[in-house]
Formats: sequence, C-alpha cells, structure tokens
Amino acid sequence: MSKLPDALNSLLSELERFGEDHDHGDTKRESKMLNITRDTGEFLAALIRATGARNILEVGASNGYSTLWLAFASQPLGGSITTLERSAAKVAMARENYEQSGLQGLITLVEGDAGDFLGNADSGSTDLIFLDSNRADYLAWWPHLKRLLRPGGTLVVDNATSHPEEVAGFVAVVNADEAFTTALVPVGKGEFLAVKAG
Ligand SMILES: C[S@@+](CC[C@H](N)C(=O)[O-])C[C@H]1O[C@@H](n2cnc3c(N)ncnc32)[C@H](O)[C@@H]1O
Repeated sequence: MSKLPDALNSLLSELERFGEDHDHGDTKRESKMLNITRDTGEFLAALIRATGARNILEVGASNGYSTLWLAFASQPLGGSITTLERSAAKVAMARENYEQSGLQGLITLVEGDAGDFLGNADSGSTDLIFLDSNRADYLAWWPHLKRLLRPGGTLVVDNATSHPEEVAGFVAVVNADEAFTTALVPVGKGEFLAVKAG
C-alpha cells in the first residue's frame, strides 16, 4: 500500500511499535492491544476499495489501529466506520488516535458490549464487517452478523490461522451456510472471508 499519507503512515508505525512493546511486556491479556498486522491493514484497505464498501462495522477496536486502516480506505468512497469496544481505557486511547489521524469524522466509536449493539442494529445495514473480538462469542453472534450484512456484503474474521481451534466451530457453521461464499486468506494472522449472496 504505497498511497498512505506520510502523517498517517507515521502514526500507524508508531502504534505498531507501541503495540509490540506493550503486548510483549508483562501485560494482562485484556489490557493487550492485540492489533492486526500491517499486511492485514493493507489487505482490508484493498478489499474495501475493491468492493466499494461504505457502511463498515468493526467489532473490537482496541486502541484503534485497525480502524485507521478501515477509515483510510473508505475516505475516498465517502464511507464511514462504526466500531465497538467495551474497554473504557482502550476507548480513550482509540479516541486520541482517531483525532491524531484526522479521520475522526468518519468514525463512530460505540463503547459497550458488542452483543448488545449487534442485537439492535438494522438488518442489511452493513457492507463490510471486520470481526476481531472475543472469539468465544462469534458463534452466538452469527445470526446477527448474517442479518446485518446486506446482500453481497462481506464478513472478515481475524485470527483464522493464528487460533484455528478457537474459530473452528464458527467457521464450520459459516462454511455450511449456502448463502455464503467463503475463503481463508493467509495474510497476517489469517483472514476468513464470507461473502453473502447478492
Ligand atoms: C484483538 S482486539 C482488537 C484489535 C483491533 N481490531 C486492532 O487490530 O487494532 C479485541 C478487542 O475486542 C474487545 N472486546 C472483546 N469482547 C468484546 C465485546 N463483547 N464487546 C466489545 N468489545 C469487546 C476487547 O476489549 C479488545 O480490545
């Protein structure tokens, strides 16, 4: 991805260094940043540009690293991102990073439990969902994720190759759903893609 503005590229590099140092320290799991890899960010950006996704939902913002890739990609398309995060400390960090990026106008950060949001969101309202949260919840969330996606919409799930056993049940259910075309993309920690029939 060669078209990143210099200031955004610097901010992303800074967040990568911060995430590495912070997560490798003596940090409790719930306090870790657990950011996507840069090549995953590039992949998501290319996917958004290829599909023209404008209404984007992210589940699991952490400190906002991945959101910045989504917002960067959707900006020229006139798109916007809604992102969900339940940790107040991470919400504060994400807000700061969004401000620093100048992309904050495209991003709505919802603090709270993603399950509550998903249960109340409108059917067919979303072009692309990026799922990067607590993997044990994915199966219970599937009916909502499926409902929220518009026909032709795309679900992307992180950690499909880094934690295959933790997403196996979810992946099996999605793979068995005739309304979805799926693929496993070996970029970063492994991205599982499911595209809803148009
Ligand atoms: C892997 S991290 C997200 C990393 C982020 N996507 C990135 O690449 O920068 C997962 C995040 O999901 C949040 N989370 C977990 N369960 C959640 C829930 N039920 N509702 C909202 N956020 C949740 C955690 O607090 C954590 O910050």
